[in-house]
Amino acid sequence: MANDWTPQSWRDKPVLQVPEYRDLDALADVEKSLAEFPPLVFAGEARKLKKQLADVAHGNAFLLQGGDCAESFAEHSADNIRDFFRVMLQMAVVLTYAAASPVVKVGRVAGQFAKPRSSSTETQGGVELPSYRGDIVNDIEFVESARMPDPGRQLKAYRQSAATLNLLRAFAQGGYANLEHVHRWTQDFLADSPASERYEELSARIAESLAFMRACGLNPDTVPQLRMTDFFTSHEALLLGYEQALTRVDSTSGDWYATSGHFLWIGDRTRQPDHAHVEFCRGVKNPIGMKCGPSLDVDEMLRLIDVLNPDNEAGRLTLICRFGAEKVGDHLPQLVRAVEREGKTVVWSCDPMHGNTVKATSGYKTRPFDLILKEVQSFMAVHRAEGTHAGGVHVEMTGQNVTECTGGVREITDADLHDRYHTQCDPRLNAEQALELAFLIAEGLKKEREARGEPTPVIAAE
Ligand code: PEP
Ligand code: CO
Repeated sequence: MANDWTPQSWRDKPVLQVPEYRDLDALADVEKSLAEFPPLVFAGEARKLKKQLADVAHGNAFLLQGGDCAESFAEHSADNIRDFFRVMLQMAVVLTYAAASPVVKVGRVAGQFAKPRSSSTETQGGVELPSYRGDIVNDIEFVESARMPDPGRQLKAYRQSAATLNLLRAFAQGGYANLEHVHRWTQDFLADSPASERYEELSARIAESLAFMRACGLNPDTVPQLRMTDFFTSHEALLLGYEQALTRVDSTSGDWYATSGHFLWIGDRTRQPDHAHVEFCRGVKNPIGMKCGPSLDVDEMLRLIDVLNPDNEAGRLTLICRFGAEKVGDHLPQLVRAVEREGKTVVWSCDPMHGNTVKATSGYKTRPFDLILKEVQSFMAVHRAEGTHAGGVHVEMTGQNVTECTGGVREITDADLHDRYHTQCDPRLNAEQALELAFLIAEGLKKEREARGEPTPVIAAE
């Protein structure tokens, strides 16, 4: 057990990004109720994910983490959950085939509600109100009553998370994840897409492999792995009162686990080594992530690795790099070298979204697809050069056909953004852009395999 750690020890540390609740008694009542509610996830599941992430850390698997920047109460529907899950599965199939290794699937979902903000207030037309901090805290509408933090929203977020998780579990285990169906959706989707030519070859090879396996008697009826999958949940551990209330002792191991999701991460704005968010995360046994932006230097990274993963346990810590396409090459190599030199075991993942946000001339916050792809490619190139494993990607995406990021095969322009710009917070890849990114990453994984001198049965014929 971490020294002097308790689920509330973070309360004695400096803390950033906290909402200013007016009614502290109401907040305490909510936290008390949450502490009595059932856990959302079970410690054994978090351990299973940690084991799968250990495989990623050792270079034997790839991590796909994705979902909304911020989940919303208004858009909670079965269709949204299904469409998101479907694209994640499609991406995972393409990546599994290209990497010829398992893909660990983690959603930014069923708990991704709280948002850090660059300013605590927002001013519109001379009126200053508290910033929107995610549906778990306040409402996005720009009126005073909506923007006041309301502790009751935490109960709603808990219930929404439980319902989302319930459906995801049903999809993952109940037959929806059938590999043959997933690939058929991809083929149908490619048939309608201007990208079909470029990806046809890889898609055809996956289909051939499935047909070959079927001929050998390996099909979803005979092999459960072909009809079921593991799917895990994650979110930023930002609202620590909520997290604390859902932190429980696991009766099998006697260890503390955060039970609000399988995997929690610390955001780029709240990763100060002596502050509250790091304090909370160091004591729970879940796999955790830490966002690494341009302000993180080598010494601080090594200090944080020691605090968060003192036993150097594989799968415990994922470093989620988000430097921006133009900055990866300047920042990442020295961090990778330091980790190697010190013999630390981490998962390296690339978040190509948060360092590539720009303001379009139309006024919308957007992210150009080309920059997103470029950051992933540069991240992979650095790992190839250093002889380390580019372990995964972390993307903001949705299963819906939104227009929030520019570019991609439909060449969404600044002028198109207003059409279907629905995000509560940051711009997301739409379903088509997300799948396109997976195909393009697949090409990078092929290069990684070649650099390791492995035969590449995948997309080899060009
Ligand atoms: C996020 O993942 O939505 C986020 C706020 O990221 P970061 O902490 O990297 O800015
Ligand atoms: Co975001």
